[in-house]
Amino acid sequence: MSLLRWKDEYLTQVEEIDNQHRRLFDLINGIYDLIRVGRGSANIVEALGEVLEFTQFHFATEEKFMDATSFPAAARHNGEHERLLDQIRELRRSIRDGRTVMSMNEMYFLKDWLLSHFQGPDRGLASHLLIRAVPLIEDAAI
Ligand SMILES: [Fe+2]
Ligand SMILES: [Fe+2]
Repeated sequence: MSLLRWKDEYLTQVEEIDNQHRRLFDLINGIYDLIRVGRGSANIVEALGEVLEFTQFHFATEEKFMDATSFPAAARHNGEHERLLDQIRELRRSIRDGRTVMSMNEMYFLKDWLLSHFQGPDRGLASHLLIRAVPLIEDAAI
């Protein structure tokens, strides 16, 4: 069984964001699978590196949309992004250095963060994009 199961209620209706959110689900589920089969820290560190890279890419996409549409809550939203990236970087470093092992606590932290961010700030961003700026989104996505 997966840690995160996609539900339609997570959809924001902005296709590029939704596709990236699904990919993040897959990456987090991939780490969960590594833990379940007892893979070692080196594999976890590598998988967290992929999560970090894709998360940065995803946040850059959202930030591009925010910039293109003068999203009023951009500073707070970007602040949440930065805090999560810092936490993933620190987690990865501490596993790599042998100070921590990846446990279910960290998995639940990532899961809870994603679900609450997708359903809170990202939904707010998507409503703003859909209502005010569909043509701008199409321009920015090219
Ligand atoms: Fe997002
Ligand atoms: Fe976001």
